[in-house]
Amino acid sequence: MDRPETVAQLTQTLRGGGYLADRGLATALFVALSLQRPILLEGEVGVGKTEVAKVLAAVFGRRLIRLQCYEGIDTHQALYEWDYARQMLHIRALSAHQAADSDAVDKLFGPAYLLERPLLAAVRAGDQAVLLIDEIDRADDEFEAFLLEVLSDFQISIPEIGTITAPSPPLVVLTSNRTRELHDALKRRCLYHWIGYPPADREVEIVLVREPEVAPELARKVVAAVHRLRELDLAKPPGVAETIDWARTLDFLGAADLTAQAAADTLGAVVKERDDLEVVHANLEEITSGA
Ligand SMILES: Nc1ncnc2c1ncn2[C@@H]1O[C@H](COP(=O)(O)OP(=O)(O)OP(=O)(O)O)[C@@H](O)[C@H]1O
Ligand SMILES: [Mg+2]
Repeated sequence: MDRPETVAQLTQTLRGGGYLADRGLATALFVALSLQRPILLEGEVGVGKTEVAKVLAAVFGRRLIRLQCYEGIDTHQALYEWDYARQMLHIRALSAHQAADSDAVDKLFGPAYLLERPLLAAVRAGDQAVLLIDEIDRADDEFEAFLLEVLSDFQISIPEIGTITAPSPPLVVLTSNRTRELHDALKRRCLYHWIGYPPADREVEIVLVREPEVAPELARKVVAAVHRLRELDLAKPPGVAETIDWARTLDFLGAADLTAQAAADTLGAVVKERDDLEVVHANLEEITSGA
């Protein structure tokens, strides 16, 4: 299948790939796919922002091209680079006579010496790809402005080679953890969806889809406990990823029930800040009770 025909069909397809999307997310993705618009996913940590791009690529048989953003990322790391090492080797192999020939030098800046980076790869792959621009909030302002340009026409100019245009644009999924506000101009270009923590019954389902060997009863208790943890005002509240980890850890240790003792033994799967650990330890009975 190339593209879903309805939101319901997309929801089903994603579920087949192990991803449970609620109606809002499925609708946003459906529109993004159908109208070929980039989609910006913001949300809490570990709620499935990155995963949904991976699953979309997998279920539609597209190539996943990932641009991981970080502080100081520059345009070359995102677009293309020249393979200096090979260029040098080539130059050394040329005789003085050949090196004077401008054709031989031109070849050094031809496709054979071009190292494709994610954005160029995505422009070349077009709608055969899902381009995941992950954690865009970590990149700086200038990089965001540059991305905006690429996203608006899917065209890359390489002075030595020419202009490369996407036959039809890839599906672009941008994610952000909101460590800073993104620019309005970028947001305007994209559809937007906020992914919050799922309600308890959906989170239980997610755990069971991801870790089918976990007993449903244990999954329910873990989810109930995680929901209480999220109410505790921790510095790093646990995401869905942590819920899954915790359930998997308990299951691996053969714990049939989430007792205060079992929780204390396995807290490292969910709470990963020293100060948070203290708060949680002080409230363990309450967190694990009555689930
Ligand atoms: N709706 C969902 N359906 C299936 N799995 C999910 C869902 N939400 C989260 N997960 C699981 O949670 C884990 C974390 O998801 P992911 O890494 O995509 O989160 P994220 O939002 O990108 O987190 P971060 O903010 O840390 O980058 C994944 O391994 C995925 O399996
Ligand atoms: Mg992520």
